[in-house]
Amino acid sequence: DWTMASFRDAKIADIREQVGSGRVICGLSGGVDSAVAAVLIHEAIGEQLTCVFVDHGLMRAGEAEQVVSLFRNSYNIPLVHVDASRDFLAGLDGVSDPEKKRKFIGAEFINVFEAEAKKIGGADFLAQGTLYPDVIESVSFTGGPSVTIKSHHNVGGLPERMNMKLVEPLRELFKDEVRELGRELGLPDAFVGRHPFPGPGLAIRIPGEVTKAKCDILRKADTIYLEEIRNAGLYDAIWQAFAVLLPVRTVGVMGDFRTYDYVCALRAVTSVDGMTADIYPFDAAFLSRVATRIVNEVQGINRVVYDYTSKPPGTIEWE
Ligand code: XMP
Repeated sequence: DWTMASFRDAKIADIREQVGSGRVICGLSGGVDSAVAAVLIHEAIGEQLTCVFVDHGLMRAGEAEQVVSLFRNSYNIPLVHVDASRDFLAGLDGVSDPEKKRKFIGAEFINVFEAEAKKIGGADFLAQGTLYPDVIESVSFTGGPSVTIKSHHNVGGLPERMNMKLVEPLRELFKDEVRELGRELGLPDAFVGRHPFPGPGLAIRIPGEVTKAKCDILRKADTIYLEEIRNAGLYDAIWQAFAVLLPVRTVGVMGDFRTYDYVCALRAVTSVDGMTADIYPFDAAFLSRVATRIVNEVQGINRVVYDYTSKPPGTIEWE
């Protein structure tokens, strides 16, 4: 009968068969999926694997450090840490269409992996933590005509000019199964239980044009929000929570002064697999505490709103 332990053994055998004596580059995004994929592949092929963590400058506060320390210290899996934030932010300059942002970021990841592959004398495979829902949602809308909702950054294959093939051992799994596999592989609970974080990062949480200044403002608001969620003991009851920085400025008053600053939207949902979601019903005291802290502590934001839209008709991310 089917267990996660037998799935793991079967996948290790599959990976060995697919890869042979080839070299594999695995892109780590900071999230659970790519970390689980990397640890699984490392079990299968050891030193044939090189992990590359690409910091695109669109991470949450502290995200990069956590992944780097997990891999270097706990797992002793060698990790190349690439700071590509200047290239990513430069490429996003002036881009405000959601699909253009996603496509650019996906292509830029590939560029970085290709460059890293060259440095190690070439790689035969690129490994990714693509899940089943990523595949479905990028391809079609269930039950309806074939329409792309969003191009998930890691779905869509590799450019033809590349000689690399994809290794995607999680392609048939849902999120809860990936977490179980992560535990099976000995990843710490706190890491496995992290909320999903999308590959395109904060770029899709800043509707309109993305700048470093906006990312910095958003990171501060997001940190406060998540801190309050943890303090209230709600982190594990929520599938995903994050702040969004709207491209809208409104008038406010702070002390004796008029302010004219950005609006921040808060999102929190419950879900089983990310395909459908309900809003998390915070109590009013919690929301006003978060709103007060954000407006008081984050320069550039003077108004906070809560997103009350389920999925469908909304999606979880705003872009
Ligand atoms: P949406 O916004 O489509 O999100 O309702 C569903 C889940 O997928 C995550 N998401 C992504 N994850 N690359 C990822 O790795 C992406 O391009 C991407 N887009 C959305 C989202 O955070 C949510 O958990």
